[in-house]
Amino acid sequence: MTKKFHCATNSNFPLKGNVKWTSPSNIALVKYWGKRPVQIPANPSLSFTLKNCFTETSIEFEKAEKFSLELYVDGKKNKSFLNKIETFIDRIKEYCPYIFHYHIKIKTTNTFPHSSGIASSASGLSALALCLVSIEKKALNLSDEEFYKKVSFISRLGSGSACRSIYGSIGVWGEHASFNGSSDEYAISFTDISPVFHSYQDTILLVDKGKKEISSTVGHDLMNNHPYSSLRYNQANNHMVQLKNILKSGDLFEFIKLVEKEALTLHSMMMTSDPYFILMKPNTLSIIQKIWEIRAERKLPICITLDAGANVHLLYPNNIKTEVLSVIEKDLIVYCENEQYICDEVGNGPKLIMEHYA
Ligand code: PMV
Repeated sequence: MTKKFHCATNSNFPLKGNVKWTSPSNIALVKYWGKRPVQIPANPSLSFTLKNCFTETSIEFEKAEKFSLELYVDGKKNKSFLNKIETFIDRIKEYCPYIFHYHIKIKTTNTFPHSSGIASSASGLSALALCLVSIEKKALNLSDEEFYKKVSFISRLGSGSACRSIYGSIGVWGEHASFNGSSDEYAISFTDISPVFHSYQDTILLVDKGKKEISSTVGHDLMNNHPYSSLRYNQANNHMVQLKNILKSGDLFEFIKLVEKEALTLHSMMMTSDPYFILMKPNTLSIIQKIWEIRAERKLPICITLDAGANVHLLYPNNIKTEVLSVIEKDLIVYCENEQYICDEVGNGPKLIMEHYA
């Protein structure tokens, strides 16, 4: 257990208050796949923080004899997510003991549909961690740096990739010699990037909005006895160094090669685990093929990436947005469930909407 994130309660903790944050989702370029307890990644990862896909969460808290939680999702009382949040709260009890002195009402809503197949755990858990650790920031006068580090640490305990959502543009999680200050326990921000990436676009083609047949938790576990795991972890470590240079130089064709290799390696790990499984759907492959054709014909710097699901993320620079959106409307929309896609782009990270303590 990490002592440095323990915290004592004192009389400065507020009697009651309200805090509201928004926190975005993220899309990994170098993928995290494989972990050991508790949520320690088997390899480092790096992601773009998104802008439009985010969770807005508020907490209203008041000192109480006995700890209790209430949860409202999209304005309605929700029991199934409450169980997940209780498991998360139990996991962070050593680090945020002050939570247990309050009655807490959580209200949360996403800008993207729950059933879209877009993981809401990264934005959802980071938004909640931001609200909870804000109480500690107020009582213990944490600096911004201490605050974000602790929030990232707490978010990681809820959902590994959530720890990267705390920082704008790019989050790096997992210890790596080329990234100063990197850690397995929390993410850091990475800012040494070419301006082209500040406004990079991510259009998410919604191929399959259903629930995944295999959860990420099961997939991560299957890496433990995977015949190719050590090769994969070495590759990811090497990709971190290469990507660091590419992000700095802005070489988009090198970017494309590395990002697509990462996405396809992630899915090839799934296809070669025991038991094996496939999360891509026929339309996922049709989109990939079409993008490769379009890229060859028109010399457009556009590429795909995938998370643990069938949806396809199209990554491209802002200056070709109009052209790409017309290609999507003309050639790709047929592969999307109900012709749905989400236009997102690289964003600046979480936002504090409101805080009040008494
Ligand atoms: O954070 P988890 O346990 O949902 O795992 C995320 C795994 C990937 O999305 C496939 C890769 C990543 O680094 O985000």
